[in-house]
Amino acid sequence: METVVSLLLILAIISGTGAADPDMLQDICVADRTGAVKVNGFICKDAAKVNSSDFFFDGLAKPGSTNNTMGSLVTVANVDKIPGLNTLGVSLARIDYAPGGLNPPHTHPRATEIVFVLEGQLDVGFITTANSLFSKTIKKGEIFVFPRGLVHFQKNNGVVPAAVIAAFNSQLPGTQSIALTLFTATPPVPDNVLTKAFQIGTKEVEKIKTRLAPKK
Ligand SMILES: *[C@@H]1O[C@H](CO)[C@@H](O)[C@H](O)[C@H]1NC(C)=O
Ligand SMILES: *[C@@H]1O[C@H](CO)[C@@H](O)[C@H](O)[C@H]1NC(C)=O
Repeated sequence: METVVSLLLILAIISGTGAADPDMLQDICVADRTGAVKVNGFICKDAAKVNSSDFFFDGLAKPGSTNNTMGSLVTVANVDKIPGLNTLGVSLARIDYAPGGLNPPHTHPRATEIVFVLEGQLDVGFITTANSLFSKTIKKGEIFVFPRGLVHFQKNNGVVPAAVIAAFNSQLPGTQSIALTLFTATPPVPDNVLTKAFQIGTKEVEKIKTRLAPKK
């Protein structure tokens, strides 16, 4: 009995600390991006040099340009933009979508995401490790959740632009875009891995690699 209780306790502790970024050990730890020391996060700036600018960002105020291949743009508001977020375990992003725009399938290895629709309407979904798709059409004022690490996407099938605010339980959620990860990595993933994985020929693999290659 005691063993079962301690096991449950251990599981609770592991899931409690493992679900998001680690807990902070002080009020603030504004990221010092110039520091040479590497830790799990960023080292703290001298508190005497911290001011309100370290906690401020206006980069999500306006729509970003969606004039690109996918017709969408993700603007992040994470610790890279707001040094005061260091150790706080949260961040935001704004995503804009042209009509027909797609935020292609991707995962965030370090965070669950919750989106709030600012404008327009989106068809969204995520896929579980059991390979089940959970999808829904969401519109202005509505919310949808993408559990941590699961592949997900958003598509604007409407005729007007759409936008969301996305919140994450990590200061730096990280993004792996599935197609880009596989077809535009440096150095490249070998063609013979991709031809076998996707059951297609080398020509098709090369075509995808060319089309997804960053525009110069
Ligand atoms: C905060 O400090 C930086 C220099 O470290 C300075 O450029 C900025 O103007 C200051 N902001 C405020 C709101 O005092
Ligand atoms: C969109 O981008 C293309 C190529 O970069 C450019 O030629 C075109 O003028 C842009 N359109 C708008 C509306 O900005």
